[in-house]
Amino acid sequence: MSGELSGRVAIVTGGASGIGAASAALLAEAGATVIVADVNEASGSPGRFVAHDVTSEAAWKSLLDDVLAREGRLDIMVNNAGVSGGSGNIETTTVENWQRVQAINSEGVFLGSKYAIAGMKKTGPDKPASKGSIVNISSIAGLIGSAGPTAYTASKGAVRLLSKSVAMYCAEQKYDIRCNSVHPGGVDTAIFNPLWQAVGHEQGKAFIGSRHPIGRMAEPGDLGEMVLWLASDRSSFVTGAEFVADGGITSGLQRRPLLGPS
Ligand SMILES: NC(=O)c1ccc[n+]([C@@H]2O[C@H](COP(=O)([O-])OP(=O)(O)OC[C@H]3O[C@@H](n4cnc5c(N)ncnc54)[C@H](O)[C@@H]3O)[C@@H](O)[C@H]2O)c1
Repeated sequence: MSGELSGRVAIVTGGASGIGAASAALLAEAGATVIVADVNEASGSPGRFVAHDVTSEAAWKSLLDDVLAREGRLDIMVNNAGVSGGSGNIETTTVENWQRVQAINSEGVFLGSKYAIAGMKKTGPDKPASKGSIVNISSIAGLIGSAGPTAYTASKGAVRLLSKSVAMYCAEQKYDIRCNSVHPGGVDTAIFNPLWQAVGHEQGKAFIGSRHPIGRMAEPGDLGEMVLWLASDRSSFVTGAEFVADGGITSGLQRRPLLGPS
């Protein structure tokens, strides 16, 4: 896609690490001007870094003012920032943990979508209208239930239907803005650091990989490719849809031997 996104401006939240960093790199490679908006600065991240907390509406206002002042437009928003929030179930999750996870994973995507639309609409007569694309990172936890983590599962379910609501609204208003959700299975990123610290990276990665029919975890770039396609005009007829990249986890049951290791 070299040069295909030249002239487009993209914001990637949580772009300093993992799926966000891979997405930012691929968008930049395709020619987009990329703003990496994250609470943590990463060394060598592609694009311009802006310290940004997705839970703060004031931060969103100043980020959009800054991007529109410097770049003059906004075309792509990747609402990717997220936290796992631990493994609490419905009995053990505290209200504080619930609220923190919803604030980042769900409310952060609400604010990101709201300000994306405001930014994408601000095109002057001298600029071609933005063909906006909002890509919201949910999870397979937003598609199927599990006993825990409760707060994470609920937050990712919210992202799935928020994305459809945004898509329907933009279509109704005849804005040229699409919105879709992405549902990864296990991706080898820093979100698993507590597990890597407990059992070791290679062992933990192999274990989680074995839970995927395809037999491995995803690499961040596997998801970045999907984000890139959704951000580009190659997906121009796609809105309000769910994109699953999970190595087959949600597509059916895996056969397991009756005897021997499970
Ligand atoms: N890794 C997986 O297996 C997996 C699976 C499904 C969904 N996801 C989702 O993918 C997204 C990216 O996660 P990742 O796996 O790349 O994890 P990661 O930890 O590598 O990256 C997450 C990034 O979000 C940033 N962030 C956290 N809170 C923030 C805030 N309040 N404001 C701005 N930035 C903030 C972090 O600093 C970090 O750079 C998350 O929404 C996550 O829930 C990940």
